[in-house]
Amino acid sequence: MFTMKIFNSLLDAIGNTPLVRVPFNTPAKVYAKLEYLNPGGSIKDRAALYMIQEAERLGLLKPGGTLIEASSGNQGIATAMIGAMKGYKVIITVSEKISEEKQKTLQAYGAQLIRCKPTLHLDDGASYHAKAVEIHKNTPNSFMLNQYFNPTNAGAHYSMLGPEIWQQTQGTITHYCAAAGSGGTVSGAGKYLKEQKPDLKVIAVDVPNSYRSTDKNPQPYKLEGIGVDYDTPLLNTAIIDDFFLSGDDESIAMLKTMAREYGLLIGPSSGAVAYAASQIAQNLTEHDTLVMIFGDSGRAYLTKNFY
Ligand SMILES: Cc1ncc(COP(=O)(O)O)c(C=O)c1O
Repeated sequence: MFTMKIFNSLLDAIGNTPLVRVPFNTPAKVYAKLEYLNPGGSIKDRAALYMIQEAERLGLLKPGGTLIEASSGNQGIATAMIGAMKGYKVIITVSEKISEEKQKTLQAYGAQLIRCKPTLHLDDGASYHAKAVEIHKNTPNSFMLNQYFNPTNAGAHYSMLGPEIWQQTQGTITHYCAAAGSGGTVSGAGKYLKEQKPDLKVIAVDVPNSYRSTDKNPQPYKLEGIGVDYDTPLLNTAIIDDFFLSGDDESIAMLKTMAREYGLLIGPSSGAVAYAASQIAQNLTEHDTLVMIFGDSGRAYLTKNFY
């Protein structure tokens, strides 16, 4: 089938990403939602769009204003992309841990990049989040999207991602599996899907070393864009059935498998999700349909030599 899409604005090209069957060795149907096909290259286009549009509507963001955000890269890239086309100045704080590619992409969109030393806790006064809060306080006419605490982050996925998955699977989805950082993706779409089908299972993928998994005693880990590193108000534990922990080694090994056996070049958080889904799917039947979220592409991490 040939469908031609024409958009009047780049913003209208956000979302409606493909859902693609992945032939894992299971009687269940497993699908990947290819979020890396968003115009900014990740799932975060959705959250940034909703948070910026809401700020404009509420008058918190005015012409000539400055967008400020703390990010593990993708939220910043989405903010920089939208800021560029709308004429806002953009300042993004990141941890030095994130890939060179993501840092250079931010600068390519014209954003000012502030690199901060990695911290184990997001609420550490030296963290990239704390730095963004400080810059926001000292910058007149600025708006901080604040993805880690802004409920509109999860709201974007409730309003947009969840309904897309429901329509694409024609209501047959039984398992929804997504990485948790802020928790917006898993909680927002998870809530929508569970409202449609209360016995649907929502699986949040975290890392074993995160603040949440270690009962507030986090340890460093290599994966980016995944890991619950603070008491996040966005993680809706009431609708999450299970937390699956994917570690560095199995997630990074999965990146190679996905690229070489399935032709899916995905980023590390998606490697963690793919590993989780491959394990969960072993216990599913032909009556089950699992949807996993692939948040970004492996092209943003090639210099990390994971592949
Ligand atoms: C590639 C990727 N996957 C997953 C996530 C986690 O999404 P959320 O913050 O909605 O939990 C992020 C967050 O930055 C990300 O960049």
